[in-house]
Amino acid sequence: MRTMKNKYNKRAASLRCSPFTLVSAVVGCVFMIHLTMLYSRRYSVDLEVSPQLLIHHPIVRELERVEEENIHMPPPRKRSPRAIKRKPKRPTTLVEEFLDENSQIRHLFFPDMKSAYGPTKGEVNDTSHYYFPGRIWTDTEGNPIQAHGGGILYDDISKVYYWYGEYKDGPTYLSHKKGAARVDIIGVGCYSSKDLWTWKNEGVVLAAEETDETHDLHTSNVLERPKVIYNSDTGKYVMWMHIDDANYTKASVGVAISDNPTGPFNYLYSKSPHGFDSRDMTVFKDDDNIAYLIYSSEDNSVLHIGPLTKNYLDVEPVMKRIMVGQHREAPAIFKHQNTYYMITSGCTGWAPNEALAHAAESIMGPWETLGNPCVGGNSIFRSTTFFAQSTFVIPLPGVPGVFIFMADRWNPADLRDSRYLWLPLIIGGPADHPLEYNFGFPMWSRVSVYWHRQWRLPSAKEKKIA
Ligand code: DGJ
Repeated sequence: MRTMKNKYNKRAASLRCSPFTLVSAVVGCVFMIHLTMLYSRRYSVDLEVSPQLLIHHPIVRELERVEEENIHMPPPRKRSPRAIKRKPKRPTTLVEEFLDENSQIRHLFFPDMKSAYGPTKGEVNDTSHYYFPGRIWTDTEGNPIQAHGGGILYDDISKVYYWYGEYKDGPTYLSHKKGAARVDIIGVGCYSSKDLWTWKNEGVVLAAEETDETHDLHTSNVLERPKVIYNSDTGKYVMWMHIDDANYTKASVGVAISDNPTGPFNYLYSKSPHGFDSRDMTVFKDDDNIAYLIYSSEDNSVLHIGPLTKNYLDVEPVMKRIMVGQHREAPAIFKHQNTYYMITSGCTGWAPNEALAHAAESIMGPWETLGNPCVGGNSIFRSTTFFAQSTFVIPLPGVPGVFIFMADRWNPADLRDSRYLWLPLIIGGPADHPLEYNFGFPMWSRVSVYWHRQWRLPSAKEKKIA
């Protein structure tokens, strides 16, 4: 009897799980599920191009090359002993040098017309189409492109890219003694291109109002960050933009509409979306044709996001507050493998600051902050978004995971001479500071913007080989 009981007890004991075995089994299961999810998230992609091939392709590796910059601070300017006594010289930072219109190293940030690039410069047969971030970029007539704070629309109908932005070719002045530098509204500039490098000026497609002082577009007001999306139901091109007064107290969004990508756009109205203040903004059209407005609100302390109505002319009464208390602006949103990404800047007027990348599984949030996406240059370059500010991200057709990051290097002393920084943005690899960890596995891939003094897009032939 005793032996039987002992035997039974032993068997039961072997069947019963120890807490350790139980925990190990659960952890093992979660681990396997997580690995499967991670694998399917990273590698379930368009079948167009094998991501494995692409990651290892020399073209992509070239874009990921880390390029260093070594800018030396200029020697202190000569001052009279009396001036020194009056105000001893404190050491300046590189950002102060950048903002100082008399700096001896200004040409490094704002090289002059001699180094301009564009279709009328260089060899006629030169098809290399290199981007030179920060140099003056000219259009097909040889004039500097005027499309600041801009965005790109790819028009499926004409198979043409359109670049819309602030046409700022006027004098810069201070709105009042201590006010921000400004240029009167001229309008929204539009450029067209088949290759994202050769841009033809299509003119001012939404023009300022010269006489009616009560009009939103009166020259004395502010029109910033115009973005255009196409509504296939109505056949209309719809432009959303930041509308403000000279002191940035109106804080509204404006809407304009056109039958053609090259305008003219008909200005409809401005409003406070969801009843809130709205400054830097963008719009994003998702694969299911639902479009969203994303705007800095509540005195720039938080971003708001909400869907547009079906005709894209208004917002639906649905809104989520995201990145609450993070004080972000200049949102640029894009999507890769069903994950949404966003690049934002801090709020420091025209002065550059550190970019952050964010990610979300649902566009309405929650959004996680991944960290600074900038790679290369040097630490000051990286902490100032290469002395620029995000405005838009363009997906590169046929190259999944590779995008163009568009940024503005603002020149507050002469805003019309602000420069464009177009740089490769690549999604891949583990994020730096993923806030959300699942058993040690970061949920998100890294978003990297690579600094290059000179780079180019892969040619159609190179993309085919990939
Ligand atoms: C930063 C914004 O991102 C720009 O669009 C512009 O509004 C400046 N502030 C004005 O200081």
